[in-house]
Amino acid sequence: MKKIQIINGPNLNLLGIREPGIYGKNSFESYLPVLRGKYPDLQIDYYQSNIEGELIDKMQEVGFDYDGIVLNAGAYTHTSIALQDCIRSLKCPVVEVHISNVHKREEFRHHSYLSPACLGVICGFGLFGYDMAIQGILNHDA
Ligand code: DQA
Repeated sequence: MKKIQIINGPNLNLLGIREPGIYGKNSFESYLPVLRGKYPDLQIDYYQSNIEGELIDKMQEVGFDYDGIVLNAGAYTHTSIALQDCIRSLKCPVVEVHISNVHKREEFRHHSYLSPACLGVICGFGLFGYDMAIQGILNHDA
């Protein structure tokens, strides 16, 4: 069975509550069963942390064994060289996801430290972006 790790970074534990006009009204916990139901032959694990080092620890833990990581690093996307270094160190592909279209928003969200190290980037499609990222990893593998 293929294994995919979804990782959400800071403030994404507040999905559904946080700025619903931008991030939607659904929590990630309510979306996860939908995603798992769509891919019954995949092991889809989920982890969220507000702490940069914990995101790195999780990626190092799974990144040599899993088939791919779907990463929404939240605001660390725009600040973290440490996350970029981590992604470059792993064996498995990482897909960068953003719920909102960051390019339509403030200029400081237009730059990502992570994109150059990732297999691909998906933004602006809401929670469906996580599904697209999984499809990207599976298709890349095939
Ligand atoms: C986000 C976009 C980031 O700029 C922001 O800091 C987030 C969420 C998104 O999913 O659209 O926390 O990654």
